[in-house]
Order: sequence, then C-alpha cells, then structure tokens
Amino acid sequence: MEARVTAHARYSIADIDKRLYGSFLEHLGRAVYTGIYEPGHPTALANGMRQDVIDLVRELDTPVCRYPGGNFVSAYNWEDGIGPQQDRPTRLDLAWRTSESNQVGIHEFAEWAEAAGTDMMLAVNLGSRGLDAARNFVEYVNHPGGSQWSDLRRKNGRAEPWNARLWCLGNEMDGPWQVGHKSAAEYGHLANETAKALRAFDDKLELVVCGSSHSDMATYPQWEATVLDATYDQVDYISLHMYFENYEKNTAEFLALPEKLDRYIGTVSGVLDFVKANKRSKRDVKISFDEWNVWYHERKSDARRMKEWDWPHAPVLLEDIYNFEDVLQVGCIINTFIRRSDVVRIACIAQLVNVIAPIMTAPGGAAWRQTIYHPFQLASRYGRGTALLLDVDCASYVSNVADAVSYLDISGVHDGDAGTLTFFAINRHGNEPMEINLSMERFGTAKTVEHTLIKHDDLEATNTKDNPENVKPRKTDGATLEGNAVRLTVPPYSYSMIRVQL
Ligand code: AHR
Repeated sequence: MEARVTAHARYSIADIDKRLYGSFLEHLGRAVYTGIYEPGHPTALANGMRQDVIDLVRELDTPVCRYPGGNFVSAYNWEDGIGPQQDRPTRLDLAWRTSESNQVGIHEFAEWAEAAGTDMMLAVNLGSRGLDAARNFVEYVNHPGGSQWSDLRRKNGRAEPWNARLWCLGNEMDGPWQVGHKSAAEYGHLANETAKALRAFDDKLELVVCGSSHSDMATYPQWEATVLDATYDQVDYISLHMYFENYEKNTAEFLALPEKLDRYIGTVSGVLDFVKANKRSKRDVKISFDEWNVWYHERKSDARRMKEWDWPHAPVLLEDIYNFEDVLQVGCIINTFIRRSDVVRIACIAQLVNVIAPIMTAPGGAAWRQTIYHPFQLASRYGRGTALLLDVDCASYVSNVADAVSYLDISGVHDGDAGTLTFFAINRHGNEPMEINLSMERFGTAKTVEHTLIKHDDLEATNTKDNPENVKPRKTDGATLEGNAVRLTVPPYSYSMIRVQL
C-alpha cells in the first residue's frame, strides 16, 4: 500500500500547548500508595517518595499532573491531608470502596510534583462539598500568608505559596456514579458561583468546568450547552473524558475509535462556538481533555472484586496490563489531539502510575515502563511546536464508527527553534506494509532523517517486571531523503516516529 503526505510550511493548525502531554494521579488503588509513595522502599527519599518512579516520570516529561481525582475528589476533604501525618484521619472512600489513610495530601503531592518536574493541576470537590471548601483550599495553596488558611499552611511547614494556576471545578459531575452528581443546571450554577469566588481571589487562575464523561452519555452534548451557558464568562476550559475498549478483540474497529474521539471534539468545539456567539462574547473557552486512555483489560473483573471487598487500603485496582495493540491506539489518540490542538489545549493521560498507567511498580521492588509509555513519551518529547495541517492521500476502510478510516494515521509538528519536523505515523493495516512518501514544502533544506519504530509481531505482547523491554522503540535505517521528501516503508500494524532535521 502507498501513502502520500504533504506538509507545507504555510499550512499549520496551532502552536501546541505543551500541556497536551499532561497526566493524572488519583487516590485510587496503588497510584499513590506503593505507586509514587512507599516509605521503606529501597529508593524512597526522606519524604517517602520513590525515586525510581520520579525518574520514570521525569523521562516521560509530562508538564502537568492532575490531582487528587477523579471520582475520589467528589467526597474528599482536602483538610484531611494536612498537618502531622500521624494525626490524619482514615476515611472511607466512597468512589472506590477503599480506605484512605491520608498519608499523602497536598504538601506531599506538591513536593513530589516538583521533584518529578511537573506542574500541579488541582481539583476541588463540588460533589459532597462546594464553594466554601474550594475557596479555602485555593487560599491554603496560593495565598502568601496573613490569613487563616495560608497561615495554617505556613505552620504546616510550607512558607511559600505553591501558586497552582490550573484548577478543575469538580470531576465528571454528569455521571450518576459521582458522589454529589448534579443536573447540568445545578452544576452549572454551582460551578459558576465557585469560579466567581476563585476569580475574586485571583483572576489569573485557569479554571476547568466539567463537560461530559464520555460522548455516549445520555446527557451529551446538551450537558455542555447548559453548563457553558451558565459558566462561559468565568471559565477557561471545558473538560472532556473518554476511555477506549476492545472487548470484542477487533483491532480494526478498536483502531477506528479515534474517529469517534475526533467527532466528540468537533461537536464540543461547535457548542463552544455556539455559546460564544450566543453571548456575543470575545473570550475563547477551549477543551481540557483531562482523562483519556485505553481502559478495559481489567475493568469487569475489578467491578466484580470491588463489590466483595471490605474497604481495603490501596488495593490492586484498575491495573490494566497494556499490550502492543494499545501502543497503536495511544498513538492514534495523541495524533487526534495534535490535529485538534487549536481547541484541545490540555490533555491528561489517565493515569500515571499503576492505575491504567504507563508506569508500573512492584511494592518493595522494581518500576517499569508499560508498552504505552513509549508512544506517549515520544510525543511528549518531540511533539512540541506547531501542529501541521497535512495533506494525506491513503486508502481507507469502513468501520462501525466511520465510513472512511484512513489506514495511515499521521500528525506532524514543526519545532522552529530546534529546526525539526516530526511525524507520528500509525499503519492501521494488519497485513500490508505501507510505503510512505512524505514531501516537505517550504521548510528549507532537509538535512537528515531518523526513523524510530515500535513493532511487535504479537498484538498482545506486553512489558512485565521480568520482561520490561519486550515492546519498545528501536531506531531503523529505513528512511531516506530524496530532496525534500522522505521515503520509507513501515510494517503492518506499526507505530513510527519520523524526525527530519532542517
Ligand atoms: O480514571 C479512572 C476514573 O475514570 C476516574 O476516577 C473518573 O473520573 C473516571 O470515570
């Protein structure tokens, strides 16, 4: 099969916000306890944080990390996580039917985030609580001193405010499973009033209001219209979530799902335009796609186990083991975000450690990279700059979600400072190699080209503690430059990064 791709220096989509490569850590399963935090672990720092995990997060280069939930946040009292650790209460977490020891709270997370080289994206509880708890939390985190909550932070050992800029107004409030779930009108009113209070404290905060948990929600997209109508003047982003499943083991259908993601983004983008026009507003509200990933491998068995258990602390939960097929899917998802980077400014892989995550840990033992670590890391490292509007000519297939799914899924990024063009390409054909002819117009002379390939003959191949490098990127010498065109042939079902030095 052949594919022709043209990139032109004058056809671009947007300057990518680096927070497109954000991540997420929730108090859920072993994400925090025995994930990032494990006092007594051979690599643990004095504060109990695992250095081996910090190293892998640093290597992943995720510029922002959302915390502390997720469903967890909707019944979370942030005050439980401050003060001397031995005095903190153990609470029942209603979202995951577990116990929460509160040994990690905002101080510990902030220290960890700094060590891991990532900014905090914090969420307030608009489920069981509301405006008052939210404003106190923001004051605690961001006010220098001289007030009740900021002085308490100082007393608890942190003199300087953390100055967290990005705040989520609750989590998935459209979901009936959410503690304190609300109708769009109820939530819209509460989110707007909370946003007004937070802005009265600091009008430079960036605020994220909840959109839909999935485009299959019965309330979508009316939810977005109602919530934005109530909050448009006070918020900066609307949050969307989507998880990808392959219960039927149908790779072609699975890999077509990013078409549905693309339509979801397009529809919400339309709602944003509609509300903006309706309000005669000048401001732009964008999308924060702050939960996305493949999630199905352990989902049903987790749901069964949860029903039976007796409020365990940090149990094994949502520990999906990712395979090579998921590499292809994660590549296509990130490509969709890059192609929609004019409206999707923030996106967070859900999650970061152990819980549907690119990084796994063994308690007391090793930390390793799951298969999906690699496409995320390549995009996060090399997918910064200007997203390009590519012209793609390639055969397509018919799927349940779209009539024409191109066998080649590709995005392109121009980094003017580094003088590079980077393309992320997935061959969605299961049997045929693809000969790609990629021409680059008006970028200047192409000097060198590098090809990095992720390929495994077994779609179900995984990385485990004992075989952590089974699926990983390898450099090939298969790409050649002919004038200002790259030629290469990529194998069936494969992920490629093509980097051109100008
Ligand atoms: O990431 C796992 C869960 O998925 C989050 O807690 C929730 O927001 C979503 O439903």
